[in-house]
Amino acid sequence: MLKSSALTARESEAAFDDVRREYEFSDADFHVLARIAKQRTGITLADSKRNLLYGRLSRRLRALKMSSFSEYREYLDGPQGEIELERFINSISTNHTKLFREPHHFDHLRDNIAVPYAQAVRNNRAGRLRIWSAGCSSGEEPYTIAMVIKREIPDCARRDIRILATDIDTDVLTKAALGEYPVKMMEEIPEIYRGLVQPKNKDKSSDTMVMSEDLRSMIAYRRLNLMDHPWPFKGPFDAIFCRNVMIYFDAPTKSNLIERYTQLIKPGGWLYIGHSESLLGAHPGLELIGRTVYRRV
Ligand SMILES: C[S@@+](CC[C@H](N)C(=O)[O-])C[C@H]1O[C@@H](n2cnc3c(N)ncnc32)[C@H](O)[C@@H]1O
Repeated sequence: MLKSSALTARESEAAFDDVRREYEFSDADFHVLARIAKQRTGITLADSKRNLLYGRLSRRLRALKMSSFSEYREYLDGPQGEIELERFINSISTNHTKLFREPHHFDHLRDNIAVPYAQAVRNNRAGRLRIWSAGCSSGEEPYTIAMVIKREIPDCARRDIRILATDIDTDVLTKAALGEYPVKMMEEIPEIYRGLVQPKNKDKSSDTMVMSEDLRSMIAYRRLNLMDHPWPFKGPFDAIFCRNVMIYFDAPTKSNLIERYTQLIKPGGWLYIGHSESLLGAHPGLELIGRTVYRRV
């Protein structure tokens, strides 16, 4: 007798994937790797992220000349595990970003932090200014913050102004510290800030642009896993940007992180989160001021 050829939607999808896939990727492979991701980074990978995880990690299997995900799982468990974990994390993190992304945050930063600081400079009252870009990816966010500050405070390099830029992914941090981007990204920069970025070669024919020394000198790049306890700095910060990072975390992780940010922001300081995010639950230390902009009360 012929076996029934009727497959459930899930089975046909799995069968289809197996045909296309170079490596077998079992439920157990997915669940074990997703659990490691959650434990080590806070990143939650729902079932719908199965193909994404497969695609990103199969590159690691190829690079390591492995023939199966179970071999890769054993490798992560073995003596090389901690070293491979860095590559694993770099592979699973999503780093999409751009200069002046969600631009109203930078208008707010200009009006509420940079302009008052410039006024304090004129009155000889300027003190410390600290901003943290938490989950800075390849640097576009901290360079944007630096551009806004530099334009309002031209002598920023002589002032006590620092931007701390952290990420868990070491590949993007290397790129960020280099401060070089394709020249076509100039289009993302509003006209008034374009003078702060130069073509790499003086003849202007270069397809690479470089962030100016004043911008770079304000920023300190560090690897930091936001899940670490405690963080190796105490603040306080005038503002924290944590945009499009917490979308990858579950509600308790996100809530805990917001509490920790709140403790580090000066009273009257600011928290900026991504446009598709909202603060879950009550955070009495924070007051919603505008779209995805919160003030520490
Ligand atoms: C989508 S990017 C956002 C970049 C930038 N903030 C923006 O909005 O354009 C998210 C970044 O969060 C980082 N990230 C994810 N989990 C992290 C963790 N546990 N600790 C630190 N950074 C993390 C990723 O490596 C990635 O670079």
